[in-house]
Amino acid sequence: MVGGDGIGPEVIAEALKVVAAAGVALETTDFDLGGARYLRDGEILSDETLDELRGHDAILLGAVGTPDVPPGVIERGLLLKMRCELDLYVNVRPFVADSHDFVVIRENTEGPYVGEGGVLRRGTPHEVATQGSVNTRRGVERCIRYAFETASTRPRRHVTLVHKTNVLTFAGDLWQRAFDDVAAEHPDVSTAYHHVDAASIYFVQDPGRYDVIVTDNLFGDILTDLGGAVSGGIGFASSANLNPARTGPSMFEPVHGSAPDIAGTGSANPTAAILSAAMMLDFLGEPDAAEHIRTACQAPPEGTTAFVGDEIAARVTD
Ligand code: IPM
Ligand code: MN
Repeated sequence: MVGGDGIGPEVIAEALKVVAAAGVALETTDFDLGGARYLRDGEILSDETLDELRGHDAILLGAVGTPDVPPGVIERGLLLKMRCELDLYVNVRPFVADSHDFVVIRENTEGPYVGEGGVLRRGTPHEVATQGSVNTRRGVERCIRYAFETASTRPRRHVTLVHKTNVLTFAGDLWQRAFDDVAAEHPDVSTAYHHVDAASIYFVQDPGRYDVIVTDNLFGDILTDLGGAVSGGIGFASSANLNPARTGPSMFEPVHGSAPDIAGTGSANPTAAILSAAMMLDFLGEPDAAEHIRTACQAPPEGTTAFVGDEIAARVTD
């Protein structure tokens, strides 16, 4: 358990309450990580801590980040480091509402997130900054493979590749060819391609057309916030950072951040964390409990963080 900063520990407490109500006994270890920990003793995510995390089956994370630490420090040093070091190469983000039921499979270790690039002549009129997008055939293909395997288990069996192949011709070409090659191995799965700008119109105007979407790290980051916004709000958006090869633990976290502005007010919506815990239970081989939790999160209760947690826990117990 990594409660983290801000509302993180508050929503994780509710998620654990609901998991217990669903009858799953978890053995847990608390890890004190995030912006507050960093400010206290300088640790963001040491190699020793990473090794300790590797000894677990799964990581449930609330949210990390505090306004007292400059942007990027905790994000890169903790979240992105975890994703890379634990090889959490797909980020699964489901979106369900009256009009749609789709899942975004976001590549989670490459693209512009690798930190490629640099700055020259910083602070001068001749300053130059570059930030490249790294796309490996292996990294892209394994993510696309996961998307097709996911689609094979869903009734509609449809995968849409979202990219920007008309402008990002090098990366886009690699993605498109990898997509076509994997598609050829899955004749039972139908496919589509959308540019990311067009996809953002469809997310708003016709999200029902999507089943499984596969996309790169940055497009996936942006589109999944939009997915949350059109699916009841970011307070309901859950995610799983998976290492499908299971060479180490996978990590489960709500899509939202630490929301320092509402921390301590008891007004954070714990549903995203609760649904992330359900994704964790799926991955740990407890699909029945996971399904009970998802059902209990429908017609979501309204109220304080603890009230919503109690109410969902009571529904799960019934
Ligand atoms: C997310 C977040 C992270 C990301 C940030 C906090 C590094 O926005 O999980 O979507 O960009 O991936
Ligand atoms: Mn994001």
